[in-house]
Amino acid sequence: MKNINPTETNAWLKLEKHFEGFDNFSLREEFKKDASRAEKLTLIDKDFYVDFSKNLITESTRSHLTALATECGLKEAINSYFTGAVINATEKRAVLHTALRTPQNSADSSVISNVNDATESKQKMFKYVDNVLNGTTLTAHGKKFDTVVNIGIGGSDLGPVMVYEALQAYKNDMTLHFVSNVEGDHVEEVLKKINPETTLFVIVSKSFGTQETLTNATTIRNWFTEKIRTDAVSKHFIAVSSNVEKAVNFGIDHTNIFPMFDWVGGRFSLWSTVGMSVALGIGTKNFQSLLDGAHEMDNHFKNVDFEQNIPVQLALMTIWYNNFYRAQSEAIIPYTQYLHRLPAYLQQAIMESNGKCVDRDGNSVTYDTGNIIWGEPGTNSQHAFFQLIHQGTKLIPAHFIAFAKAKYNQPDHHNKLMANFIAQTEALMNGKTRNEAKKDLEKSGKSKEEIELLLPFKVFEGDQPTTTILIDELTPHSIGKLVAMYEHKIFTEGIIWNIYSYDQWGVELGKVLADAVLENIENKEYAGHDSSTTGILKRFGSLN
Ligand code: F6P
Repeated sequence: MKNINPTETNAWLKLEKHFEGFDNFSLREEFKKDASRAEKLTLIDKDFYVDFSKNLITESTRSHLTALATECGLKEAINSYFTGAVINATEKRAVLHTALRTPQNSADSSVISNVNDATESKQKMFKYVDNVLNGTTLTAHGKKFDTVVNIGIGGSDLGPVMVYEALQAYKNDMTLHFVSNVEGDHVEEVLKKINPETTLFVIVSKSFGTQETLTNATTIRNWFTEKIRTDAVSKHFIAVSSNVEKAVNFGIDHTNIFPMFDWVGGRFSLWSTVGMSVALGIGTKNFQSLLDGAHEMDNHFKNVDFEQNIPVQLALMTIWYNNFYRAQSEAIIPYTQYLHRLPAYLQQAIMESNGKCVDRDGNSVTYDTGNIIWGEPGTNSQHAFFQLIHQGTKLIPAHFIAFAKAKYNQPDHHNKLMANFIAQTEALMNGKTRNEAKKDLEKSGKSKEEIELLLPFKVFEGDQPTTTILIDELTPHSIGKLVAMYEHKIFTEGIIWNIYSYDQWGVELGKVLADAVLENIENKEYAGHDSSTTGILKRFGSLN
């Protein structure tokens, strides 16, 4: 991969110049000037309709940004990504989550061995899942499993829980719980709800060394052996890990360890055996559709020209707002409760990947990188934080995501939901001028004095940018495609920002520090810290 400082490219210089023309930019005016603006700035890939036209851009912006992607070597980088080059250089690893959803018959020769390994591990997982679901694999007491507890954190939790929640309409009669936080109270609350006799525990940890996961797994195993018996552990506990030795030492039967590969990062691993709990909850057919949807987006990203390429254009919008408008964050607003964990999932995927301040040459970057991701489903979020988007002082580009068809036949609800989804983006774009606000107040019968008083508060500046992602229907296939779309957006941003998107050294530091403080807590020795930390440690110690 070429290491190019984006700010030193010709395209960047052109973008800086181009941006100077945006002082008086008005989306209303742009739509008035050009009746085909929406058509020109909307990308369609089968069931995905992505409308970029309510963004603060013109067609020239798109051309300049696309030129930036080209100049930063995106084409070559995509090739390196899909052919297994060691693009995660600081960890000396390839980045091949795409191989997890590549059918063997369409695999490039450079990654055929990865695809073969992925297929083999998927088949092992599918066989296990099918056997649990059809009652071939039974509990220690010869019963059918009816509950699964997923024990994992970060990528070993957020992806599976997000997808499982998204696919509630596809779930079978298995009940799933997710335990992630090291908080003992959370574990206790889950244990209260489950019957150890019919529960399968899936320990998901690539390293099998993560403090939270091992603590939770140990507590749950102790609880289980007290309630059932020690020799039942091998039937009720399975592991997804690349550290077979540690998993065996924990008491997992060798045949019940499902491999993970070092060429798949934690936050991109939901397609692998990390998806075990999801597969148990929705069945292997649906899980395969999820993979197929992701593969469809992989092909789109690999093959479609940058100007028409959905993940590329989404990434370029982020660069535009982050580096030219100096926007700090991006809101993700899914208009469906099914996607209520999508913002949290994307927080890890995006912020752990692109929250980096050192470029690929090891130098401090001189420009902004990774943006802050946040969000909640609409319409709830309209009644929470939309005030700030409409009338606050910050520019907050937002993704509005919805599905044209609802899962159940409730047209009254769905039409209202979609009316809000559509109306909000229009309102954020148009705003309300002083004149319009005045007319509204007059219409409502307010007196002259009241109008004078209220008018400043009733004006909306508008020009709040949104991208509408309208998908035909929520299915395992479209969810797979949506998640892969964001994965490739992350990749594209990382290439242009010239950073390594696939390591996470910042998180490692936190893990080491917590271990040191734990020793202080356990030994009640508080020396060696600043006065604030010592004070907090003492206060905590005095209450425990
Ligand atoms: O949060 C840091 C991290 O390394 C993530 O990247 C990963 O998903 C998570 O910890 C869990 O790690 P493991 O699967 O090894 O337990």
